[in-house]
Amino acid sequence: PKPRILCTRLLTPLAQRRLESETRISLVQWRSEAPMPRAELLSQIQGVDGALVLLTDKIDAEAVDAAGPGLKVVSTVSVGYDHVHTPTLAQRNIKLGITPDVLTDASAELTLGLLLATARRFKEAMAIAKTDNWGAWNPFFLTGSLIRGKSMGIIGFGRIGQAVAERLRAFHPSTLNYYSPSQKPDAERSLGATRIQDLPSFLSTTDIVIVTCKLTNDTRGLLNSETMKHFKKDSILINTARGGIINHDDLYSALVSGTIGAAGLDVTDPEPFPAAHPLHTLPNCLILPHIGSATMETREAMSDLAVSNVLAGVFGEELPASVKL
Ligand code: GLV
Ligand code: GLV
Repeated sequence: PKPRILCTRLLTPLAQRRLESETRISLVQWRSEAPMPRAELLSQIQGVDGALVLLTDKIDAEAVDAAGPGLKVVSTVSVGYDHVHTPTLAQRNIKLGITPDVLTDASAELTLGLLLATARRFKEAMAIAKTDNWGAWNPFFLTGSLIRGKSMGIIGFGRIGQAVAERLRAFHPSTLNYYSPSQKPDAERSLGATRIQDLPSFLSTTDIVIVTCKLTNDTRGLLNSETMKHFKKDSILINTARGGIINHDDLYSALVSGTIGAAGLDVTDPEPFPAAHPLHTLPNCLILPHIGSATMETREAMSDLAVSNVLAGVFGEELPASVKL
């Protein structure tokens, strides 16, 4: 029989066409732009050889158990995989495909955009622009921070972190540091970056802190009321990685008290982020709804790679982009 693949969402047009026209497989798909309900996923995943999923699908032991012993590969349309319980996959010899590289530029560009928008107070500026309160041009009106010449620090110095660093160089940082569990000598040389592995030292010497690391047990809640004490006054915090790396209640207090000057978040905890959350009320907290990789060409490339990963997995071939488990 043909390998059976479950796809939990409607994909972008080119990848969707490719998946549908693949005659070597039998396809089960949730053909919607909205997530597949959990109960539906647990029922439809039964007996599949491969699962093509998104970061909204929790692939835990329950989901893997529901699939049964035939499951060979989980392929996610994302570079992050904190929604997948990797020990369960490792234990059952199931491969995990992700979509690195193809979203690096889009994510780095969004990170720079969010940094500029946060430093220059776009949230307040856009709100005022549509009122009749502009007033006459005024030297003190909506003054923000210059990026050029500031000390910049990146938490997580992988592909995306390095792509952000490459772009930050155009703003002539006074220092460019990174915080990462591993030393990256090549990137240090090519980007002029220095590793500071002590978090208090890293934070207390950095004007602009940008989070690009993975969400893991080591980074969950990394920025909390304790560590936030070390931020420089008037510092700017940008997070385009995962919301869970920052404690949002602690961030609210830090932004209100001035421990942190301003924050730009493309990711939150939870997602979607409740409209009633107090962070929304702060003029110095700009929140985007997780759009780091949201360009159509990027989403097509991610979906295409995810299709390649799931097909390779069900046919016992090496995945084009996998996680070592
Ligand atoms: C998006 O957040 C991703 O992990 O690809
Ligand atoms: C992960 O976020 C990466 O560095 O690509």
